[in-house]
Amino acid sequence: MNTTEVFGEAVDAVYEIKISRGDKMNALTDAMYGSLVEHFLFAEANSEVKVIYLRSDNAHFSAGNDLADFLENEFNVDSNVINFLRTLAGLKKPLVCAIGGAAVGIGTTLLLHCDLVYASLDTKFSMPFIKLGLTPEGGSSLLLRQRCGTAKANDWLLTGRTFLAEEALSAGLVNGLCDDTESTWNEARNTAKQLTKKSSRVLNETKALLKSEHIDEVIRIMGKEAKVFAESLETEEAKAAFKAFLKR
Ligand code: COA
Repeated sequence: MNTTEVFGEAVDAVYEIKISRGDKMNALTDAMYGSLVEHFLFAEANSEVKVIYLRSDNAHFSAGNDLADFLENEFNVDSNVINFLRTLAGLKKPLVCAIGGAAVGIGTTLLLHCDLVYASLDTKFSMPFIKLGLTPEGGSSLLLRQRCGTAKANDWLLTGRTFLAEEALSAGLVNGLCDDTESTWNEARNTAKQLTKKSSRVLNETKALLKSEHIDEVIRIMGKEAKVFAESLETEEAKAAFKAFLKR
């Protein structure tokens, strides 16, 4: 389950998952999504784990999906990324996340499925799908509106622009900001530890109550998004954008 690019360990009742591909700014490959799913499922099944904590092991969170992977791997409903998103959306245990540096594409949209997110002040967020000939994924076309309001969702998804940590905080995308990477990891870890003092029953029931109104809708929207996303990936516009990035 542990690979050189994703590894996890239980520290008391917190299961800590680290993304570790610093040379590529933690861009996520098909194999990495597969590994993330295994860690999530392990944490969900392990009765000693109460809280899951996701972070990277370097200054960046993630530069999004690996753009070479988009060209090399066929994307369909059975792709690891789809399984990853479904698993993430369906987690029953609370998920705390610490981010910093690049939080691009799925590196931002996955935050919409986290229960508590702490960001380093240097975090640069973007969902640049539109600039790559792609369309929103991960339930973001619904969840971003619900979490941050229609104005922000339209702005971020239609322009694909980069925005900074203060804007993410004021829009409600993240729970708190920390001065640097180290303090962000500490804040997130301490919060996760605090949560473990509560019983699993109340933690999971509270999360379920917070999510139960819209989980079916999220899964439905993710399916709809995946279909359009798959079509977009096949366009010359998208392929040219990936090749341009990889050649630069
Ligand atoms: N897929 C594959 N490789 C990626 C990557 C991605 N999404 N993002 C970064 N990398 C790689 C770069 O190719 C580079 O590798 P190299 O040193 O072997 O050439 C390394 O990570 C560092 O990236 P670089 O672009 O040199 O860093 P930067 O500080 O100049 O720019 C970003 C940082 C995040 C702005 C830029 O890397 C970027 O735009 N990445 C693509 C983001 C993206 O479009 N994600 C997909 C959204 S759907």
